Amino acid sequence: MPKTLIEPFRIKSVEPIRMTTRAEREALLEAAKLNVFKLHAEDVLIDWLTDSGTGAMSSKQWGAIMEGDESYAGARSFYRLEKVIQDITDMAFFVPTHQGRAAEKVLFTAVCKKGDVVPNNCHFDTTRANLEYLGVQALDLVIPEGLQPATLHPFKGNIDLARVEALLKDQADQIPFGMITVTNNTGGGQPVAMDNIFQVSAICRKHGLPLFLDACRYAENAYFIKLREEGYGDVAVARIGREMFSYADGCTFSAKKDGLANIGGFIGLNSPEVYDSVKNTLILKEGFLTYGGLSGRDLEAVAVGLKEAQEEEYLRFRIEQVALFGERLKEQGAAILEPTGGHAVYLDALRMLPGVKQEQLPAQALAVALYLEGGVRGVEIGSVMFASTDPKTGKVKYPPMELVRLAVPRRVYTNDHLAYAAEAAGEVVRNRSRLPGYRLAWAPERLRHFTARFEPLKPLE
Ligand code: F0G
Repeated sequence: MPKTLIEPFRIKSVEPIRMTTRAEREALLEAAKLNVFKLHAEDVLIDWLTDSGTGAMSSKQWGAIMEGDESYAGARSFYRLEKVIQDITDMAFFVPTHQGRAAEKVLFTAVCKKGDVVPNNCHFDTTRANLEYLGVQALDLVIPEGLQPATLHPFKGNIDLARVEALLKDQADQIPFGMITVTNNTGGGQPVAMDNIFQVSAICRKHGLPLFLDACRYAENAYFIKLREEGYGDVAVARIGREMFSYADGCTFSAKKDGLANIGGFIGLNSPEVYDSVKNTLILKEGFLTYGGLSGRDLEAVAVGLKEAQEEEYLRFRIEQVALFGERLKEQGAAILEPTGGHAVYLDALRMLPGVKQEQLPAQALAVALYLEGGVRGVEIGSVMFASTDPKTGKVKYPPMELVRLAVPRRVYTNDHLAYAAEAAGEVVRNRSRLPGYRLAWAPERLRHFTARFEPLKPLE
């Protein structure tokens, strides 16, 4: 049997992508105030800003879209999705939402109050922002290896159980629930072991607290468990997923990831009381209980996508494609977070650009350089996203890692696109002595990476 990694699909519909010249990219970056979020997508050759909502839907999903029932209440599409979600999660209740952050907003509004503390392996940026908006402290308690880009560990997304235990012992009355993010996006798309989910669930239950999964990439996490955790090698991914959900009392979900849809999300719950308390916010902010801000056709696309994301041939290709991308980048001299995660390769800016100090925003410098070199767009996950200033001392607290995430959309790019992007990263490495650091020219208080404006500390070359 030939060993070449091939895409397990044929391409039925294509979308052209556009080459630009370096001079054009320079002008486009300047107009975007050096923030790659502000570039027009048309001006990006390979867009790895996110794997969220950017996947290609299958012919079955497009077919299901025509079956969408657009009734306001009680649509057939809702019941179809409900059946799929119950099959995947085995949870008693679910409500659709228009995407993951809406699920967070609705759930957190129902169960948190000001002054609370929520532990997680790592909160994703919208999760953190939704909690902080309610006056809740979002604590990241990932294991130490999870913050060391070069350290190998099969489950770098694991939460530090001793720190969770200590926190719950001291402050249980301030903690409304525990949370665990699978895979751990902020920490490199790294998986969480089944045993770790089981243990953190046991600790929460001992203290009478629910555990919620941020389950966006649960299928990728389940595949890693199959590959790496003892006793799961022969277990079907769908069963591994169900076991993961069985240790949780609820979940938030962005169907833009392992729902293989362009939009959508949901909250899954076991508790009838919590379900009751999310209903009002849902109706007020999202929509009626049977559509939650989505059209009937979206519900159909998610129902089919959720099932396709559990297919093991699909998952094998996905995880191996990302790993192959990591290898190609390393061949080109790029430093990456290892091992590669489920949905993205993360470039380690501190190792790749040793000349740019942390206060000069090295991951921002790398993101700009990649676009300039090859028209490739990634996202900064470093000081722009996470540095914070202590209001009392005025001292800036920098995050432990400076990363640029190259998130691979599902079923969109071929292995040759990976090779091209790796080459562009190689060019950046070869030219690194010429790259400037940056400073923020303007930024909003929260989620600043989306809209911040930057200035280079010396002119771009
Ligand atoms: N939780 C995690 C772990 C995520 O990665 C995301 C989104 C969300 C929640 C929010 O979901 O976008 O549907 O509102 N992550 C995207 C990303 C945006 O690029 O990583 P959403």
